[in-house]
Amino acid sequence: MAAKGGDGRRRLKVRVRTANKHSASSTRWLQRQLNDPYVAKAQAAGYRARSAFKLIEMDERHKLFRPGDRVVDLGAAPGSWSQVAAERVGSSADRPTVVAIDLLPMAALPGVVALQKDFLDDDAPDALLDALGGPPDVALSDMAAPTTGHRKTDHLRTTHLSEVAADFALNHLAEGGHFVTKVFRGGTERDLLDTLKRAFRSVHHVKPPSSRAESVELYLVAREFRGSGNA
Ligand SMILES: C[S@@+](CC[C@H](N)C(=O)[O-])C[C@H]1O[C@@H](n2cnc3c(N)ncnc32)[C@H](O)[C@@H]1O
Repeated sequence: MAAKGGDGRRRLKVRVRTANKHSASSTRWLQRQLNDPYVAKAQAAGYRARSAFKLIEMDERHKLFRPGDRVVDLGAAPGSWSQVAAERVGSSADRPTVVAIDLLPMAALPGVVALQKDFLDDDAPDALLDALGGPPDVALSDMAAPTTGHRKTDHLRTTHLSEVAADFALNHLAEGGHFVTKVFRGGTERDLLDTLKRAFRSVHHVKPPSSRAESVELYLVAREFRGSGNA
């Protein structure tokens, strides 16, 4: 069967055979990867993950980056959002303005300072600000807790990460700055949404076209921070 790729050309659908029933879910994953036009596009463009396109689509619609901006990327590994941010703000190896943090190690990227650290550690905000050398203009969080398969637990853990990311943004973002965070469909916590609506000029729920329709993820895009005195 043929499917249309992102470039409009037809691709042959790849079927993967499974040897035993225990590998059925990894077979489904492999089949989805092989047939996903965004995976092919990411490889062709040199991005480490297809998630790059989610950030590109959000930037194109909501104008997040300006040349010279300082950016923090929370939950950054393997690094495709950092790649997009570094390109769009023009961060260079000799004057990096993008700082990434993840529990996992991340291979070096030009123009990106990567910290391997738990963002929930008390000293994480200071480590990020020290590495950045000033307040961020853009704070991004694609953090997701490792899934347990229990929907409610996964939802609560990822909600907690987005709340801590929002707290970082509210305390440290430069006035006029923007904040993007992953949330799960099924209810952003009302308090978080209300706080962001007070602190930013606009707040949108966004489902980028490249985010898989079956995924419960959504993003909150909060633009034009009013300043920490108004949070
Ligand atoms: C969906 S992935 C991020 C993908 C990334 N935006 C990209 O485009 O390459 C989510 C990441 O959040 C990280 N993460 C989860 N909890 C974290 C925490 N407490 N501190 C730092 N990173 C965390 C995970 O290790 C994982 O790499």
